[in-house]
Amino acid sequence: MFQIVRKQEYAKGTIIRFDINAPKIAKKIKPGQFIILRVNETGERIPMTVADKDEFAGIITIIFQVVGKTTALMRSLKDGDMIRDIVGPLGKPAEVHNIGTVVMIGGGTGVAILYHVAKAFKEAGNFVIGIMGARDKEMLILENEMRAICDELIVTTDDGSYGQRGFVTEPLEKYLEERYDIKLVYAIGPIVMMKNVCKLTKKYNKPTMVSLNPVMIDGTGMCGGCRVKVDNKTQFCCVDGPDFDGHLVDFDELEKRNSMYLKDEKTSLLFSIR
Ligand SMILES: Cc1cc2nc3c(=O)[nH]c(=O)nc-3n(C[C@H](O)[C@H](O)[C@H](O)COP(=O)(O)OP(=O)(O)OC[C@H]3O[C@@H](n4cnc5c(N)ncnc54)[C@H](O)[C@@H]3O)c2cc1C
Ligand code: FES
Repeated sequence: MFQIVRKQEYAKGTIIRFDINAPKIAKKIKPGQFIILRVNETGERIPMTVADKDEFAGIITIIFQVVGKTTALMRSLKDGDMIRDIVGPLGKPAEVHNIGTVVMIGGGTGVAILYHVAKAFKEAGNFVIGIMGARDKEMLILENEMRAICDELIVTTDDGSYGQRGFVTEPLEKYLEERYDIKLVYAIGPIVMMKNVCKLTKKYNKPTMVSLNPVMIDGTGMCGGCRVKVDNKTQFCCVDGPDFDGHLVDFDELEKRNSMYLKDEKTSLLFSIR
């Protein structure tokens, strides 16, 4: 059993942060890795990236968007409530080196996944340019935290309610035009965002890493549920990823596979709120 020591709500309760007491995981987990949790005995297993950790206090932080049955159930939990099981750390950690200038791009709740990795790149001595985007001002998360670790930070909103109006690809293109010293771009967010970032960085020949989010079940390479195509080869995201060279990822296939269960997911949510 794992206790939620603090719950915070953002964006009118559609994005939730849990600080969870999990000392063994906090000690081991590295940026880019994730956990699989089960809220209760009969709950489904869902993957969540650890957005931050406090090794000394034994706390891990997850930040999630409420999108369906399990995340809606998680929203109903309060400070002090328990999560039945947490397995982790899972997946490979992000490869973090001192390489110079890096651009870290986060879209929507992708910023929660990006933050831990961006912080590690800063701690490794890199010049970190952050670009974070959201649908509108309400949906922005971790702006202060990102500002504290980035040497430069650009915020975009689709509707212009805060920061620059438009998508994250616009400031990215400006940076790619103006700065020749960019060594790596890291993009985490909706599939369509990662796909468009990769299209752009391919044009400028800039190495790009993305963190993929296929449906996962066991998280240990056994079920095959999370298979993705990278460089025309099948990879299991839970053990070979979740980070991959974005220029080699087949995003169209990932998009198709991720929407395979939409009908069932809607039915499941409907039954759970009846
Ligand atoms: C490695 C990894 C890390 C993730 N980290 C985060 C995070 O930090 N914050 C966050 O908000 N979300 C994260 N996700 C997505 C999160 O797991 C899903 O939003 C969650 O499982 C939705 O469950 P649900 O029952 O509420 O929704 P459902 O209605 O069941 O599904 C809604 C959508 O969520 C996705 N999903 C559903 N079940 C799974 C599953 N077992 N595995 C993966 N995706 C699923 C599918 O795209 C689906 O269309 C991550 C996914 C992966 C693979
Ligand atoms: S989740 Fe089963 S193989 Fe990756």
